[in-house]
Amino acid sequence: MSDSDERGPSTRSVHDGEPRVRADRSIAAPVVHSSTFPFENTAELMSFMRGEQERPQEYGRYGNPTVAACEAKLAALEGGQAAVLTSSGMSAITTTLFAMLKAGAHVVFTSDVYRKTRHFALSVLQRYGVDVDIVPPSLDALRAAMRPSTKVVFTEAPTNPYGRLVDLEGLVALAKEHRAKTIIDATFATPLNMRPLEYGIDLVIHSTTKYLGGHNDLLGGVVVGKGPMLEAIREQHGTLGAVADPQTAFLTMRGIKTLGLRVSQQNKTALRLASMLEEHPAVAQVWYPMLESHPDHALARRYLRGGGGVLSFEVCGGLEAGSRLVDAVRIPKLAASLGGVESLIEQPPLMSFFELSPEQRAALGIKEGLIRMSVGIEDAQDLEADLRCALDGL
Ligand SMILES: Cc1ncc(COP(=O)(O)O)c(C=O)c1O
Repeated sequence: MSDSDERGPSTRSVHDGEPRVRADRSIAAPVVHSSTFPFENTAELMSFMRGEQERPQEYGRYGNPTVAACEAKLAALEGGQAAVLTSSGMSAITTTLFAMLKAGAHVVFTSDVYRKTRHFALSVLQRYGVDVDIVPPSLDALRAAMRPSTKVVFTEAPTNPYGRLVDLEGLVALAKEHRAKTIIDATFATPLNMRPLEYGIDLVIHSTTKYLGGHNDLLGGVVVGKGPMLEAIREQHGTLGAVADPQTAFLTMRGIKTLGLRVSQQNKTALRLASMLEEHPAVAQVWYPMLESHPDHALARRYLRGGGGVLSFEVCGGLEAGSRLVDAVRIPKLAASLGGVESLIEQPPLMSFFELSPEQRAALGIKEGLIRMSVGIEDAQDLEADLRCALDGL
């Protein structure tokens, strides 16, 4: 364990991955808006090309000082050696998988991965000759899906909308047996609530749009892991070109400074709301990993330092009652996304799963009365009173 690992989450959010004094003495990383970086002369250029000096940034698609500063911070916070910052969570996922797979390879996804990850697997990877299996997030199902050609196992934790978790150590052991790499999209967990690399997971991905940016004002993604794997991903990234811009990298770093404060409050508020909801007569069921009633509570106790800010619940009365609740609350806004300072609320059957029929939703386990709430940083008592009042009115 390094010094940094022993520090508390807020200290780490503020200081991890940052030099004590920057070369230009600015306390915040400067935003370098530059698409290209000139050389002194041909002799200097050639000495970089020949590897006599460490190669500097040369063109914005291959690197930028503000983006590099944000990558260093994210790598340190997640406990990885390196990070690649991308233009969105989806570009982190697609760039990583394109870098790791080729025609004839096999990849296993768990069934409740983000719907566009699933879409990418089925509509893009398969089109390029990659074999895809999508299985329930249990070790038995994953074991049954492994083949000699399996190169990657991709899962999410906690998952959306039910906050499911996989046995990380079991997953790592299984993948090692088959010489496959493991990737976890840990967007819902944040680097503060879960540290998958500590259990041997190869790569961690976040949509930085969510908790890391934290203010519902940017789109971004990151992949973190060991140096050599990240180099291959960086190479692919420079070709695919879905790079992060310096202003967004700056905003992401600024967001991360308060990650510890935000996540600690979101953990507490979400648990308080989940406990209240469990007792409310208008609610049929609640899913929050830190509730004892959650199917993966034991795994949550093992791997999570907090349950995060997302909770899901089913209101009695189905879709129509759910719409009345969403329209009745005064604080959470009706919007997609999660992890920001503003609380957001939505009905998964009317947003993420709208294009499916009720029967198809039922087959995926998406209940008609399901509500997903992303808890912001508003005062817990205000959110509780607001939710309770809306539920009482149903
Ligand atoms: C778990 C998870 N992964 C990835 C993504 C995609 O991230 P982005 O919207 O930043 O592309 C999302 C978006 O909602 C998500 O919830």
